[in-house]
Amino acid sequence: MSDLRTPLTRRGFLAGSAAVGLALVPGCGGPAPATAPALRLRPAAMTLDLAGTPARTWGYGTVPGPEIRLRAGEMLRVRVDNALPEDTTVHWHGLAPPNAMDGVPGITQRPVRPGGEFLYEFPAAVPGSFMYHAHVGMQLDRGLYGPLVVEPRDEPLAYDREYVVMLDDWADGVEDHTSHGGGRAAPPLPADPRDVVSFGGRTYPVLLVNGRPPLDPAVVEGRPGDRLRLRVMNVAADTGFRFAVAGHRLTVTHTDGMPVEPVTVDTVRLGMGERYDVLVHLDRRGGAWQIAAQAEGRPGLGRALLRYTGSPVSAAPSPDQRPAELDGRLVGYDELLAVEPLSLPAGTPDRAFDLTLDGTEISGQSYPDADPLPVVEGERVRLTMRNTGAKWHPMHLHGHHFQVLTTSGRGPVKDTVAVPAHGGEVTFDFLATNPGRWLFHCHNHHHMEDGMVRLVEYRH
Ligand code: C2O
Ligand code: CU
Repeated sequence: MSDLRTPLTRRGFLAGSAAVGLALVPGCGGPAPATAPALRLRPAAMTLDLAGTPARTWGYGTVPGPEIRLRAGEMLRVRVDNALPEDTTVHWHGLAPPNAMDGVPGITQRPVRPGGEFLYEFPAAVPGSFMYHAHVGMQLDRGLYGPLVVEPRDEPLAYDREYVVMLDDWADGVEDHTSHGGGRAAPPLPADPRDVVSFGGRTYPVLLVNGRPPLDPAVVEGRPGDRLRLRVMNVAADTGFRFAVAGHRLTVTHTDGMPVEPVTVDTVRLGMGERYDVLVHLDRRGGAWQIAAQAEGRPGLGRALLRYTGSPVSAAPSPDQRPAELDGRLVGYDELLAVEPLSLPAGTPDRAFDLTLDGTEISGQSYPDADPLPVVEGERVRLTMRNTGAKWHPMHLHGHHFQVLTTSGRGPVKDTVAVPAHGGEVTFDFLATNPGRWLFHCHNHHHMEDGMVRLVEYRH
């Protein structure tokens, strides 16, 4: 195993060795001038080292791609130079840019041709933990993704260090499913079979955390007494994860980048596209502890390590050690209270859609042979999804934040929400304040490719 090679200051975490020269340097408080040089992302063929096994893939130089970090209100300016043999785009998952910057080929922009370039430029208004990824076909399923962190002007949370923790299911360039870099980790399913949850059905030979397989885990480090902030992000194509840190509890502070009243639990579940920020209090004396990302509904464990500074390497847990916390208290949407609820006008919504999720169809239709969902600027829109199928579907809306309706009346503000299988139902409201044509889709990329997509279309 090897350590993260970068200093772990509160502002400086990088996913591996990635972000050299790319993270925006937060300025002296003012918005970045429009003339600031753009960051560059160069999607290209590359090799990812999986614990000694080279895997050919496509990525933005590293996997995950370089961390993009800026301050709320600053301009995101990224020039994409397409060195791939096919079209590409970049989508800023969880941000709400003007429609033309949303990165959806054929809907918001012409795709970037091989050898072509495109400048993405818009203000990053809202702080939070976001991701960027390619949005052409199954490109996301390769290494074409990375973390995007927008820091608030004044950080209300107290913590000592922070890390991005990106979870992924991986098949690219791994031919032999038994001799990949991930070891033979196949831990038992969760103890309670009633709780088995499946977000997908494909075979992925290895689960990566920050681009690293279980035999070569990324290391998160802190001193006894430290509080770590983990920005946990699920960028997998087909895998929901249950996330826990052995011997430690998780205080959930944000979901999808948006603040919630802190709640302390043992484990969180992330559908594809979801993010959770958690604080971990290092209240043990030392040691190295498993950071586990267990695939929901099928065998498989991704991992990183939490090492107390100075603790010997030899103390590391084995790759397949499964923390008991994975079976502990799991937070549900019902318990999450938005700190800043959307300012939804009182009364009934102006417009409501009732959708059925059945297999990969939405109300019996498969995109592009599917009706758009028309909205008018200024409306309060309600979307109800009932899932009659056997898989959970993490449904993602571009360009907006929505508020999940829960019994508290103050449900979490999110951009991706997992709808449970076998009759599960989720309702959310959003304000139609960002004109354009926006994708609404399942973030299982196989389901998306099968047509589990609708367009939310602003009309006059
Ligand atoms: Cu991250 Cu259209 O998705
Ligand atoms: Cu789905």
